[in-house]
Amino acid sequence: MPLPLDIVILAAGQGKRMYSSLPKVLQPLAGRPLLAHVLAAAHALDPRRVVVVHGHGGEQVRERFPDPGLAWALQEPQLGTGHALQQALPLLAPDGLTLVLYGDVPLIRPETLRELIVRASESPLALLAVDLANPQGYGRLVRDASGKLLRIVEEKDATPAERGIREGNTGIMVAPTASFARWLAQLGNDNAQGEYYLTDVIALAVAEGEDVACALAADEAEVTGVNSKDQLADLERKFQTNAATRLMAQGVTLLDPARFDLRGSLHCGRDVTIDVGCVFEGEVRLADGVSIGPYSVLRDVTVAAGSRIAPFSHLDGAFIGERCIVGPYARLRPGTVLANEAHIGNFVEVKNSSIGEGSKANHLSYVGDATVGARVNIGAGTITCNYDGVNKHRTVIEDDVFVGSDTQLVAPVTVRRGATLGAGTTLTREAPPDTLTVSRAKQIAVPGWKRPKKV
Ligand code: UD1
Ligand code: CA
Repeated sequence: MPLPLDIVILAAGQGKRMYSSLPKVLQPLAGRPLLAHVLAAAHALDPRRVVVVHGHGGEQVRERFPDPGLAWALQEPQLGTGHALQQALPLLAPDGLTLVLYGDVPLIRPETLRELIVRASESPLALLAVDLANPQGYGRLVRDASGKLLRIVEEKDATPAERGIREGNTGIMVAPTASFARWLAQLGNDNAQGEYYLTDVIALAVAEGEDVACALAADEAEVTGVNSKDQLADLERKFQTNAATRLMAQGVTLLDPARFDLRGSLHCGRDVTIDVGCVFEGEVRLADGVSIGPYSVLRDVTVAAGSRIAPFSHLDGAFIGERCIVGPYARLRPGTVLANEAHIGNFVEVKNSSIGEGSKANHLSYVGDATVGARVNIGAGTITCNYDGVNKHRTVIEDDVFVGSDTQLVAPVTVRRGATLGAGTTLTREAPPDTLTVSRAKQIAVPGWKRPKKV
């Protein structure tokens, strides 16, 4: 029987090199806090319990993760990684296996952790190591002549020869909770940083005559911790490259995978094309044959088959039917529903409105709190005056209506089926069906009028 798995995430460090008032583990990567990525990897392992060790910015971090299933251990002051794990011990049942993760190592994959956990079933302690071209900043794995792991030496404590070792400690390790408790009780802080190093448990296990197991991370980015904004940017690109690679493997065309940003989840059908510079946030679904023009932002949007989003469009909380054309420069706000073959053109803003099949608003309009029927043409410069300064009101435009340019629809107001509104109309009462309604001062020409002359 394998031991039940518990996970401890160390996240009490200050993140001095971020120069930010936001705690390090709340810094966003792909639109989510670093810690959220680690928690997602942790939960993928289906653990019995997850404990986060927090310290710096503690309350702010806790409030950001209100999940009642999470346990929190406060580490104050922060006396090192070993001391941090010690603070979590009282929250862990002694019969379990503890996996130690880091709140600032966001790209760690559950598959890698699963392999490490398998190693821990054969050994009293399993450590995740990484081969590094430049091991600077990492603790190094010190082995004997036969290759047996003896201890880890922190860079600040290492001899020049030890600094030459390329095998680095990721810090991620697994052992029975009872063993950690025994080893941590023996830690000292007689080292260059005056800290209680978690890494010293390796030598303690070896002193008990144990063989420490080692797994190797496939990829350095996966185990890289974020200490500064430039490292955060590096990992952001790595995350985005991975996301882009995954989408392309599913058949999505990305005109440039280096200019693609996903900050949520994106589900694509067949033959989806995404041009450069687009940002996808929240939950976005693009059905078969959808194309997204350059520099568009889509957040919580569904686009049905065959629709085209032209460049520089901003779509938020919208549903777009089949074979629609949206943009360039369109803005769809929450509550927008476009039926099939609707067209929303440049500098048109739509909010909390449904637009019927085949209807068009192609230029410079505001459609808010409106129900628009099928085959309606909304002329340039049309505005629904939905707000009286206190309340919002609805505009109803029935099927086959033609709204002339520069019309204001003062809501609440209804335009009946087949009506035509003359250009420039300010509509304040219902427009009857199949009729021309126009409110416009009569045009006059003044005979004998002369232009003034410069005096
Ligand atoms: C640590 C390891 C080092 C390893 C490196 C990998 C130790 C002593 N060293 O070094 O061998 O190569 O990670 O990135 O473990 N933390 C706390 N409380 C503390 C101190 C740290 O919660 O008192 C947390 C931090 O928030 C961070 C993690 O532990 O998430 C690692 O701390 P950090 O100071 O970055 O460790 P390193 O010096 O990089
Ligand atoms: Ca440190």
